[in-house]
Amino acid sequence: MCGITGYIGTRNAAPILIEGLCKLEYRGYDSAGLALLHNGVLDVKKKKGRVAVLASEVQSKPFYATMGISHTRWATHGGVTDANAHPHISSDGNIALVHNGIIENYENIRKFCESKGYTFKSQTDSEALANLIAYHYEYRTNKDTKNRLLEAVRKALAHVEGTYGIAVLSKFHEDEMIAARKGSPLIIGVGKDEHLVASDVLGFAGRANRVIYLEDGQIASITKDNCEIITMGNKPIDLVVNDIDWELETADMGGASSFMEKEIFEQPKVLENAIRGRISDDSSTSVLNGLNMTPNELRQVDRIIFCACGTAWHACMLAEYYIEKYVRIPVEVEYASEFRYKNAPLDKSTLVFVVSQSGETIDTLEALRESKRKGFKTLAITNSVGSTISRESDGGLYQYAGKEVGVASTKAFTSQVLISLLVALYMARMRDLSFSAGKSIVDSIISLPEHVKNVLKLAPQIKQIAKKYAYKHDFLFLGRLGEFPLALEGALKLKEISYIHAEGYPAAEMKHGPIALVCPECPTVIFANTEEIIPKLVSNAQEIKARKGQLIAITDTPESFEGLADDIIALPKVHEAIMPIVATIPIQLLAYYVALERGCDVDKPRNLAKAVTVE
Ligand code: F6R
Repeated sequence: MCGITGYIGTRNAAPILIEGLCKLEYRGYDSAGLALLHNGVLDVKKKKGRVAVLASEVQSKPFYATMGISHTRWATHGGVTDANAHPHISSDGNIALVHNGIIENYENIRKFCESKGYTFKSQTDSEALANLIAYHYEYRTNKDTKNRLLEAVRKALAHVEGTYGIAVLSKFHEDEMIAARKGSPLIIGVGKDEHLVASDVLGFAGRANRVIYLEDGQIASITKDNCEIITMGNKPIDLVVNDIDWELETADMGGASSFMEKEIFEQPKVLENAIRGRISDDSSTSVLNGLNMTPNELRQVDRIIFCACGTAWHACMLAEYYIEKYVRIPVEVEYASEFRYKNAPLDKSTLVFVVSQSGETIDTLEALRESKRKGFKTLAITNSVGSTISRESDGGLYQYAGKEVGVASTKAFTSQVLISLLVALYMARMRDLSFSAGKSIVDSIISLPEHVKNVLKLAPQIKQIAKKYAYKHDFLFLGRLGEFPLALEGALKLKEISYIHAEGYPAAEMKHGPIALVCPECPTVIFANTEEIIPKLVSNAQEIKARKGQLIAITDTPESFEGLADDIIALPKVHEAIMPIVATIPIQLLAYYVALERGCDVDKPRNLAKAVTVE
């Protein structure tokens, strides 16, 4: 979603800010802008469209400054226009602001500012905050106070309802940048004689190895060689500076034609990373120290709630499948956005798990907070070391999948599913799962990367299939049990990157409605890898063919679909525990090749953002 970068130091700020914005492009945006400050002049450039458009504007009218702020906007309030792009400048010309998040009471703030004579050029909620800070600077702070800008921001933010990550400049403060956050991530990079600010560490990749994570309710006053942080209540905070592991954080395409392609094909390695160090010496269970729970505490758990959004929510459905199957305790999977508001009944032996690749999804973060507010132990599975979710959870497991840049989640999904299998195995072995049953699951987990490698070799066949169906308008995806979440994930992947309407259903539900869609123009993808229900799935396939529907079977029993399916993607027979992961690969490849065939930008699909940091 929106991205922020800021720089204050001794070097030319503009190229550093543009470089930062380029690194944040993967998050999804529709316009970009920057503000530079030098000799009391705020130079602002902002343009709808790609960062490259802004960069050429900056190059054609260079402005030298050693401090500045910049932004990529993903429209929420107001259309995609130059005027709505950030930074926003207060109408008195004093304050420049970039903002991520949503100011819910912006209309009241706007009216208040207008009543004080401030004017507006955009339709955004953010401009209201720029004017409110300017008002506080002018009328609500002591002119002789050293911390006047900091005070103005603090006092203005006290009136804000909603979420924000902001970076602020004042033309009267040549040597200071203010940053603040509530519900929208902001990180300060510490360099030699310079500081950087970004909404995602990638924004200053290669420029700072040490970072300060701003927490909600904190405001920082940053100069080139100093950083002071206070709370909204004006109490100083001790700085905690962390080292960054850039190997985990950085990503390049490494010769692939897109991040999505690279991320699909690196899954064997990603799965190895998820397993590394997590199999016990006796090889019948997993070792999950990150959970921060003793075996005794885990044995007391008699219900688990998983919360997540989107693809991560599909991974949670597989967590449910594994835990109910192997641990034999009830699991519920909640959309994080619903859980945070629905006041679900929980009891003392309920464990809450949140799952988030980015570790910053606002609804997932708020679900975590809601659960913690109620006093529940709340664990997280996340891919982003140092993310807000990883910091605020009571324990959890990192995916170590490496940065996922492609907007459509691929490697993060399979790695989340694998980690939830490790959790199920760990808890099951503390209960009723036998040594030999545990060992057979462990053996299958160890063999998983190799199986995934082999299924990836089907890419040329799947590419041909994709070409055949790329111009259909609708798709159905059907699966049962551990393959029902795959039906949902297959449909989501296809629609988000190729813009084809697709729906996922449990196969048996087809007759309760979706079968009405079946016709030559609406192909069906059917998963059939669960031995005991293959005959049922064959019946579904026959029902589809009887209605002239085209059928693609993803199956480890190809003989059952010969003469029936139009196309068969044959999978190896693998242990039931790892089957859902193996069977995910073809749907990722199918969506990817369909999107390529249709000329879609797979890494930056329209309207989508990588980390959804607003509600
Ligand atoms: C789909 C996709 C999204 C994310 C969702 C949650 O391909 O990527 O549905 O899965 O926005 O994101 P995280 O996992 O970062 O919380």
